[in-house]
Amino acid sequence: MRTILVIGIGTGNPAHVTIEAIAAMNRADVFFVVDKGPAAGELNRIREEILARFVTRAHRIVAIADPPRDRTAAAYEGAVADWHAARAGLYGEAIVDALGADGCGAFLVWGDPSLYDSTLRILDGVERAGVTFARKVIPGIASPQALAAAHGIVLNGVGEPVRITTGRRLATEPPGEGESVVVMLDDGTGLDAVADDAEVWWGAYLGTPDEVILAGRLGDIRHAIKGLRAERRARKGWIMDICLLRHRRGAPPA
Ligand SMILES: C[S@@+](CC[C@H](N)C(=O)[O-])C[C@H]1O[C@@H](n2cnc3c(N)ncnc32)[C@H](O)[C@@H]1O
Repeated sequence: MRTILVIGIGTGNPAHVTIEAIAAMNRADVFFVVDKGPAAGELNRIREEILARFVTRAHRIVAIADPPRDRTAAAYEGAVADWHAARAGLYGEAIVDALGADGCGAFLVWGDPSLYDSTLRILDGVERAGVTFARKVIPGIASPQALAAAHGIVLNGVGEPVRITTGRRLATEPPGEGESVVVMLDDGTGLDAVADDAEVWWGAYLGTPDEVILAGRLGDIRHAIKGLRAERRARKGWIMDICLLRHRRGAPPA
């Protein structure tokens, strides 16, 4: 039976790669690559560096084309579902074409596969379409962990929950009193909806040589974050950033 390994590789620092991930990579005959967009070149370069550093076994790299996504669709979830279905078709074809009946293929997933990554859901679609394989997931260091480590902080208050959300949702669901919120996938407008009194721990390009972090009262560093975001994005052509927001108890929520 074919095997598909879904391997978390951390957020840009090859030293994030775990010993379990290295062992898994050295089982794979084929690595499937699907990135696109402005960051694709650099993310693939980091993946290539990881393969060159840690994989001693002969392997092939197979690129899977990414179908276009309808970002204008009013029904966001429907557009994403269509896109995942199209991707499942392409993944299934690539798996069948590239792997023999007992072959082993791997997807190297940025961060950890459990967090804002579609690989596992797309593989569910591949299986539903009738392509069978054994599946193993190897965890990686996710960006909230990289953020916490970079600042030397704990994400949650003592005995408290943490909400992980997107910049898009922050406008309608800002941090409540005392709440800790990790914000990912922000287009740069997420913080606009958050009150000045919130504390923020922000980081971009975490784990890479371009890593930059800032922390403080949001009202004091909001402009600095926006400025850095714009400047780094213009310089590199892309940005990946994340932050923890904590609204102080007693401070008025937005
Ligand atoms: C598509 S999600 C992938 C998340 C990934 N699976 C993880 O475990 O972190 C991409 C988002 O993760 C965050 N992210 C990923 N890598 C990052 C990094 N090196 N520095 C800062 N944020 C990062 C950003 O919020 C980015 O918009």
